Amino acid sequence: MDNKFQESFEKTRIAGSIAAGALDEVAKIIKPGVITKKIDELCYEYINDHKAFSAPLFYRGFPKSCCTSTNHIVCHGIPQNKVLNEGDILNVDVTAIKDGWHGDTSRMFAIGEISIKAKKLIDVTYKAMINGIKILNPNVTLGDLGFEIQSFVEKEGYSVVRDFCGHGIGIKFHSEPNVLHYGEKGAGKKLQAGMIFTVEPMINEGGFETKVLNDGWTAVTKDKKLSAQFEHTVGITKDGYEIFTQSKKGLNFPPYKI
Ligand code: MF3
Ligand code: CO
Ligand code: CO
Repeated sequence: MDNKFQESFEKTRIAGSIAAGALDEVAKIIKPGVITKKIDELCYEYINDHKAFSAPLFYRGFPKSCCTSTNHIVCHGIPQNKVLNEGDILNVDVTAIKDGWHGDTSRMFAIGEISIKAKKLIDVTYKAMINGIKILNPNVTLGDLGFEIQSFVEKEGYSVVRDFCGHGIGIKFHSEPNVLHYGEKGAGKKLQAGMIFTVEPMINEGGFETKVLNDGWTAVTKDKKLSAQFEHTVGITKDGYEIFTQSKKGLNFPPYKI
């Protein structure tokens, strides 16, 4: 890797490992009966213990340290006194700032036993993210990434959310480019070594339309069907990619054997 990218990669690696570590930590307590506020508190503590900051906390008025999005919530669910019930699916999204640099990652969690259709949605969503990431190198375009994700997801009978996308990340939480999870081969910007961005497809069981609730944050599916999401922060290297937010405990997708 070019020297000039070394600092950004090293810093993002550290921030990314803290964000991933927070997800490994919350995985220990997530089960039926737990309230989403408890997950937020644990995230806050973990990030604080690692001498880092939570990026969502007070970001544009967001009140908590992570996002907790259940069932038909697409993203940006606000942790609160909501009890997790057997059969729910949950996304926890954590972004840590360490030494000025951001690491952003999310995973799905299954609350107790979940339905076969929920399991399948989670499976397809994880594969969509990973298959997308696997094609990344300086010879592909953002459209290639979108196409890879969209074609796989639609073949499985699901839809890709259009209203939210991945993003450049670094010293800023959200920056250029917009990383769409749908698109056409060869379209869009060509990737370059040194770029750092997130891949975070939101995949719906039904239609891709979403709406934001009155709290100004919580995005839900219009048809109230399930939605799932995974997110990694990745960097483009001279011949491929690096994932900065991998779980060090192998807790990549549920069920998590802890
Ligand atoms: N972590 C989310 C993302 O992937 C953004 C959350 S912003 C918040 O980009 F304010 F809702 F926390
Ligand atoms: Co993100
Ligand atoms: Co995120």
